[in-house]
Amino acid sequence: MNPIRSARQWLFAISLAACAAMAAAQEKPFEPYSGQPGKDVVWVPTPATTVSKMLDVAMVTPQDFVMDLGSGDGRNIIAAAKRGARALGVEFNPEMVALSERAAAKEGVADKAKFVQGDMFAADISQATVMALFLLPDNLRKLNQKFLDLRPGTRIVVNTFGLDGWEAAHSESAQGDCGAWCSVILYIVPAKAAGNWRLAQGDLTLEQKAQQITGTLTQGGVAGSIENGRVNGEQVVFSVGGVEYSGRISGDTISGSVNGNVPASWSATRQ
Ligand SMILES: C[S@@+](CC[C@H](N)C(=O)[O-])C[C@H]1O[C@@H](n2cnc3c(N)ncnc32)[C@H](O)[C@@H]1O
Repeated sequence: MNPIRSARQWLFAISLAACAAMAAAQEKPFEPYSGQPGKDVVWVPTPATTVSKMLDVAMVTPQDFVMDLGSGDGRNIIAAAKRGARALGVEFNPEMVALSERAAAKEGVADKAKFVQGDMFAADISQATVMALFLLPDNLRKLNQKFLDLRPGTRIVVNTFGLDGWEAAHSESAQGDCGAWCSVILYIVPAKAAGNWRLAQGDLTLEQKAQQITGTLTQGGVAGSIENGRVNGEQVVFSVGGVEYSGRISGDTISGSVNGNVPASWSATRQ
């Protein structure tokens, strides 16, 4: 036997086998696995029962535009679209985006459930009416200012990990097969109340941390501390010396009522 010829035949056979293995690997559809590495957080899917509870708690309707940052296999977005909402997932991993698009088509909601490949920290979320999220506390901290800049009243619903310094509007546990990921928390984006406001009766100075407000109301040269100050969506409420003020914040104006001995109305303009 010619040894050179035999070696060539072996090499040919090995490269044929390698090509066949590569072709088989290429044909195998992409399958994600729980714990799969991601840019800023690994992929762990929200259990189906928790997805459903999140959308219930956020009261998603066909009028909503739901967004998920780090949308994984698209399950939150597809479930929202099945409730008639328009929905958009932002996912860094292009294979997960393609997988989500295939799943949306299979579920018959490709017209409402859309996906884009991108970085969650660069995403435009300004049009969302609901954010449905499953992210790490550190991710959520980095997104905090974007959340505060959302339209007042926007609902942010999360799986398990909450928003630092925010007050939950509601929390509930999903039932059934949800393992460690059953806890659902809802937050409502507060209007921006901080600043100096001019009232007919005096001056109001407010500091704000998410839904909580503190500060002073100065009337006739006498300053009173703000007590129990809260912003719920567009509604603001606080007390000064036992008198309760409530109102609606619309940009740089507040108008509402004073619930003192003599009920009255009040309005304020931000300076
Ligand atoms: C914990 S999983 C949540 C998946 C999905 N939201 C759910 O509830 O089932 C986080 C997802 O974020 C994606 N991800 C990680 N870093 C990202 C980034 N910077 N921008 C967009 N997506 C990212 C991961 O690929 C992963 O799919």
